[in-house]
Amino acid sequence: MRYLREALRSVLTPKEIELLPAGFNRVGHIAIISLPPQLLPKQGEVTRALLRLRGVRTVALREGVISGRYRRPKLKVIAGDPSTETVHRENGCLFKLDVAQVMFSLGNVYERARLPKLVQPGEVVADLFAGVGQFSVPIAKHARPSQVYAVELNPVAYGYLRENIRLNRVGHVVKPLLGDCSAVAPRGVADRVMMGILHVTHRYLPLALEVLKPSGGVIHYHESVPSELRFERPIRRMFDAAAGREVEILGKRVVKRYAPGVDHVVIDVMVGKASGKNIPS
Ligand SMILES: C[S@@+](CC[C@H](N)C(=O)[O-])C[C@H]1O[C@@H](n2cnc3c(N)ncnc32)[C@H](O)[C@@H]1O
Repeated sequence: MRYLREALRSVLTPKEIELLPAGFNRVGHIAIISLPPQLLPKQGEVTRALLRLRGVRTVALREGVISGRYRRPKLKVIAGDPSTETVHRENGCLFKLDVAQVMFSLGNVYERARLPKLVQPGEVVADLFAGVGQFSVPIAKHARPSQVYAVELNPVAYGYLRENIRLNRVGHVVKPLLGDCSAVAPRGVADRVMMGILHVTHRYLPLALEVLKPSGGVIHYHESVPSELRFERPIRRMFDAAAGREVEILGKRVVKRYAPGVDHVVIDVMVGKASGKNIPS
């Protein structure tokens, strides 16, 4: 964090400068920072430096890890405009969201840009954990799918998903569905299934296989995994779930470091056609 180190050199001690975090996040007009307890008395100096950055009107402090089924962040506004609702621009898309209520990971930016390039014209895509449209919107905007089903459980995130479909003018392609994907995702329809969630993804693999067309298709399977099992565990889980169907690993990559010793990985998997016993009814 060159900027903060330089900006604060005259007001913090060298030891305090060392304690500054490696970076901060910028979502729309909001700068989000984590500070170690020793630097909390100096948060006034830190926020003043952040508010001097062009376009930053709010500074929020991260107070804990994103948690719960809805993946709700823990943030507190400590300076500037108290509103935590913003519009974030990325890769030609607009994402409106409330950073205190729904998750938006800047570490997934490359993934959000990569996915639309893989989608073939006319494909049907199912985004099982759509959030505010992080994948559905850029896929609809930059590729030419015939239909994107965007399923979201959290009513707050679903509200922003609908808003983002409108803001990005992709309502003719993206169909938002409110509810648990196990209950509301359409079966047997998709050429490509997005599984953009962590911690519980493997539990939904049987569902993802049911959502694919019986002729098969591609699954983008995300997982948070201990670094030493990176790729090995997600690939094993994929083969176990596919139970005899043909499986080809098309790609694998680390999306980001999730926590010390834990990686967020994604594997792109082509699954062959369903045999008689696993064709969805
Ligand atoms: C971690 S966010 C990820 C959003 C986006 N896919 C991404 O990768 O940036 C996961 C989203 O899945 C939603 N979710 C969790 N369980 C779900 C379920 N069973 N069905 C549908 N959505 C679910 C949460 O509410 C949350 O908005």
